[in-house]
Amino acid sequence: MMIDMHHHLIYGIDDGARSFESTVKMLREAVANDVEAIITTPHITPGQVPFPYEDYAAHLEETRAWMEKEDIQIRLYTGSEILYTQHTPRLLREGRVPTLANTQYALVEFSPDDSFDYILRSVESIASAGYVPVVAHVERYDSIKKPAQLSQLRRSCNALIQVNAGTVVRKHKFFRERYLHKIFSEGLVDFVSTDSHDLPGRSNKLKAACEKLTEEYGEDLARALTHDNAERILLESSR
Ligand SMILES: [Fe+2]
Repeated sequence: MMIDMHHHLIYGIDDGARSFESTVKMLREAVANDVEAIITTPHITPGQVPFPYEDYAAHLEETRAWMEKEDIQIRLYTGSEILYTQHTPRLLREGRVPTLANTQYALVEFSPDDSFDYILRSVESIASAGYVPVVAHVERYDSIKKPAQLSQLRRSCNALIQVNAGTVVRKHKFFRERYLHKIFSEGLVDFVSTDSHDLPGRSNKLKAACEKLTEEYGEDLARALTHDNAERILLESSR
C-alpha cells in the first residue's frame, strides 16, 4: 500500500478536481493504485490570493462522508501546496497556512524560473520559522540541475525533497535521465507522490512509479519513497 502526500483531490479549491464527480474519479484512481492515505494539498499563495478555508473544510467533509458510504478505505488529511511568498513564514506561524496533515511539515513550491538563490533563501526562512520544508516536484525548477544543490537544501535547511510519480514513469533525454538517476541513487529524494490534478496526462501513476523504482533501486527505497517517509509525517499528525 502507498501514501500520496501531494494530491489536488478536493474539488472547487484550486486547479485540481473541478467537481465532486472529479474528486470521486480521482479517489477511484487512488484505490486502483493501492493508496491507503492521501494528504490533500490545494494550492495556496499566502498573503496574496485569498484561500477558501470554509469551502475546503466543507468539501473535505463531503468527500469523507461519501467515502464512508461507499466503504472506501483511504484516510484523507488536510494540507496545502504553498507557492512561496514573503508572507509565508509569518502566516505559517499564525496557523493560516495548512501544513501537511497538520504537522510541522510544509509543502512548498516555486515558479519554474526562480533562481536557486531565491529558492534556498525561501526554504531557509521556512526552516527558521520552525517548519520542515518539503520542496515540491524539485525536478521542475530550471535553476536546480545538480545533485549538489539538493544536498545543500537538505543540509542547510533540513529540507525534504519530493518528485512527481509522472516524472519517474516518463522517458527523458540522456542528461535528465542521468540527473534523476543520480538524485535517487544518492538518496536525495524523500517522497514520490502524484500531484494529481484530474487533467489529461496528470492522472495517478503512483503504482507504476513504485514498480519502476523497485526495478531500478530496490524494494526498500521504493517503499520509503512511496510509503514509509510519508507515514512518518502521518504519525505526527493530529488530523
Ligand atoms: Fe501540486
